[in-house]
Amino acid sequence: MAILVTGGAGYIGSHTCVELLNSGFEIIVIDNYCNSNPESLERVKHITGKEFKIYEFDLLNYEELENVFLTNDIEAVIHFAGLKAVGESVKKPLMYYHNNITATLVLCKVMDKYGVKKLVFSSSATVYGVPHQVPILEDFPLSTTNPYGYSKLMIEEIMRDISKSDAKWGIALLRYFNPIGAHQSGLIGEHPNGIPNNLMPYISQVAAGKLEQLMVFGNDYPTSDGTGVRDYIHVVDLAIAHVKAVKHVMYNQGIDTYNLGTGRGYSVLEMIKTFEKTSGKKIPYKIVERREGDVAMCYADPLKAKHELGWVASKGIEDMCEDTWRWQVNNPNGYEQVTLVSSTTK
Ligand code: NAD
Ligand code: WQD
Repeated sequence: MAILVTGGAGYIGSHTCVELLNSGFEIIVIDNYCNSNPESLERVKHITGKEFKIYEFDLLNYEELENVFLTNDIEAVIHFAGLKAVGESVKKPLMYYHNNITATLVLCKVMDKYGVKKLVFSSSATVYGVPHQVPILEDFPLSTTNPYGYSKLMIEEIMRDISKSDAKWGIALLRYFNPIGAHQSGLIGEHPNGIPNNLMPYISQVAAGKLEQLMVFGNDYPTSDGTGVRDYIHVVDLAIAHVKAVKHVMYNQGIDTYNLGTGRGYSVLEMIKTFEKTSGKKIPYKIVERREGDVAMCYADPLKAKHELGWVASKGIEDMCEDTWRWQVNNPNGYEQVTLVSSTTK
């Protein structure tokens, strides 16, 4: 029996594959590499010393997906595959809705047909829109401002309807806060295409000298130092939460939603300071206008995941910065160099 991981070559997927394999699960990965590189999965094999099946195709392809269910014994699915850039989703809504929602419908249809009714889905804290207070609880009102966020909200609704219609389904909707960091080996991590949109990859490329300076989006928010506050969560902690969630859905029916964060917020300036300390590099920055759509503060109340999944984040921002930096130094061009690199920081 195997766990099917869609989007397993991606940033969070590859780290989750490592934790699943280390926990003794057999896995099967599907990815079309539209935002990843097959090398990440070679490195997952290298880190764990384990082999697994990989299928390269688009999840929108019903026949190919059906073939995977016909020829393998699948007990549950972790569904990461999706497009995730907020700005791009505003410019290309049809592409986002089609890729994220239609592919999820195809997946659920095939799962239903083959009686595989255990699913863990990658949702996002973006579904809380502008929270009326922090920390954010799972039952806070949901709203969003962009097609990416709507795709997550709509998929959540679809999953709630599926669960209502058939009690045999066991579904976990995981709302990630701000995933950062990399595997401690320095072998897998995040490598955004082009200029990064998110804070951590941007900081790390400034530290590496690939970008000149960081633009800090606003210093007039009602926060301790005026810059935006977020709940940064180490990607390995997040990956471990998926192992707990998949075990939970295998033994429970119904649908549950969990915040995955540390419960603690850090400002942009605090992140810069910590990164400078752990990397020994100066991060030049400039305060600029607020970025449209940003909220002042966003951090989780993660107690539901603690009580029901037995999960708590264990890594702090120093670990997150140190591991990001090791990955950056060892892989200045992401996975573009083909051979395996050494696991020590140069
Ligand atoms: P990622 O882009 O690194 O990984 C997604 C993977 O899915 C990629 O390998 C991509 O090639 C694959 N993929 C996309 N569409 C596909 C399709 N139609 N068929 C087959 N493969 C496809 O992103 P990530 O950061 O690992 O995020 C994983 C999931 O978590 C996404 O659904 C994302 O929306 C969600 N999420 C991410 C964050 C974040 O900040 N990284 C936060 C909240 C939620
Ligand atoms: C963090 C803080 C910025 C870049 C996004 C998505 C969200 C989720 C996680 C998928 C904010 C500030 C950033 C920069 C800056 N992804 N910043 N200069 O916006 O909290 O969340 O990723 O689901 O949906 O919206 O993350 O890393 O972009 O920003 O000052 O160059 O850093 O203003 O305060 P965000 P982020």
